[in-house]
Amino acid sequence: MRCRGREDGPTMNIKSSMMMKGSKANILEAIGETPIVRLSPSFTGVESDIYVKLEYLNPGGSTKDRIGVYMIDQAVKNSKLPPGGTIIEGTSGNTGVGIAMYAALHGYKCIFVINDKQSKEKIDNLKAYGAKVVICPTDVAPEDPRSYYSVSKKLAQTIPHSYYVNQYDNLWNRETHYKFTAPEIHRQTDGEFDIFMAAVGTGGTISGCATYFKEHCPHIKIVGVDCVGSIVAHYWKTGEMTEAHSYVLEGIGEDFIPKNYDFEKIDDFEVVGDKESFLITRRLLSEQAIYCGGSAGAGVLAAIHHARKLKSPKKILVLLHDSGDRYRSKIFNDDWMSENNYFEGKLQCSLGEIIQKIGKEKLVAIVETSHNISHVLDLMEKTGLGAIPVSDGKDILGVIKSERLTSPLFEQTLNLEDNVSTIYSQDFVQLDVSDPVEKALEAFKKQKVVIVCSNGRPIDILSEKDVLKLMRSLG
Ligand SMILES: Cc1ncc(COP(=O)(O)O)c(C=O)c1O
Repeated sequence: MRCRGREDGPTMNIKSSMMMKGSKANILEAIGETPIVRLSPSFTGVESDIYVKLEYLNPGGSTKDRIGVYMIDQAVKNSKLPPGGTIIEGTSGNTGVGIAMYAALHGYKCIFVINDKQSKEKIDNLKAYGAKVVICPTDVAPEDPRSYYSVSKKLAQTIPHSYYVNQYDNLWNRETHYKFTAPEIHRQTDGEFDIFMAAVGTGGTISGCATYFKEHCPHIKIVGVDCVGSIVAHYWKTGEMTEAHSYVLEGIGEDFIPKNYDFEKIDDFEVVGDKESFLITRRLLSEQAIYCGGSAGAGVLAAIHHARKLKSPKKILVLLHDSGDRYRSKIFNDDWMSENNYFEGKLQCSLGEIIQKIGKEKLVAIVETSHNISHVLDLMEKTGLGAIPVSDGKDILGVIKSERLTSPLFEQTLNLEDNVSTIYSQDFVQLDVSDPVEKALEAFKKQKVVIVCSNGRPIDILSEKDVLKLMRSLG
């Protein structure tokens, strides 16, 4: 692998003479040498050129392959991790993969401590490598015994032959980027760019690269990318520790200041939010075919914001940390985006407002368990409803949908005199007038009848036609 010098690589145990030309000794040797690609100016909409380094093309899917492997390699060399020992690490998912790759090849066990906001894909991924995964609550202070920092430390104290990596304060993290990532960028570009930008978390990427660039290409300006809710950019600017607020972006931002930061080498910061970062992450895929994660989207957005402030066009290079594959159930899932109100210009509307706006007569035809099918058909005809709720006089027990009547009546397995109890189903949801329209759309997708209630009492049956009518009335 390129991120660790060949001469000091413990994984190189096959003589090069035996190796097939063009092959690598193992997967760790395939880390690094990721491409740099220019984003199209029509995508960025700025005069400056924005280039992206596709770190998600590393074999484990992120730039963290580099630090995961290097930090463990150093721990082994410095006798901190005994053979066959247990590696413990708090990770947002990516560093864990780099470590797990090394562990798989060298026979170490892994326990990863991860907080519950990280995507399911990341957790499943780590488990697939054979690691144990401990999940901790996100919204607790770092010093809280339940936090993933505290749990990682505790595990390391109690498990024999273990090594707690601690990418936050372990300076081999930033050293990785100083020794490998930044020199690789330098080699690839001859240093012919003006601004380097990367999302910040532990601070390893930005500080390691910044230190190298300040030494070898001092004209390059270093701009960190933080997110709304994190304390890092504010701390860099004012030296003041504030309280973090929750945000959804993963891997970026912190609620404390890890030792890997070297703030003196960072020239500026841009701060971006969840929603706009997610939207541009999706655009990067749909318009540029770049399949990266949310912190990478945040980086590109921050680069566009930064470019707008520049007096003259510059060349900006943004490091894209990880793969979009890790966010299939989130950023790249329309339902998740919609449920969390991340879509732009989205209609914000409660069910009660829809009923009011389309001037619908509040009407619910309800049959009781003593009624017969003939009565249901009468109600369907009178109201135009395709589904009628069945009640025991107090609660809704189920619904009778017209499509469930046609064949049985035609085939005479059901008669008009039969009691409704024989035919109702559970294909319904009861929602409140204050619920957002998304809840109804979700129910429609599952072919459920939506019964809208006020103070727990049914007041309407909302159909897809009603939502379409609202959209039409809004033009
Ligand atoms: C997806 C993602 N983006 C950005 C970062 C921040 O990188 P660094 O920790 O080197 O500051 C991380 C770190 O975990 C990450 O996983």
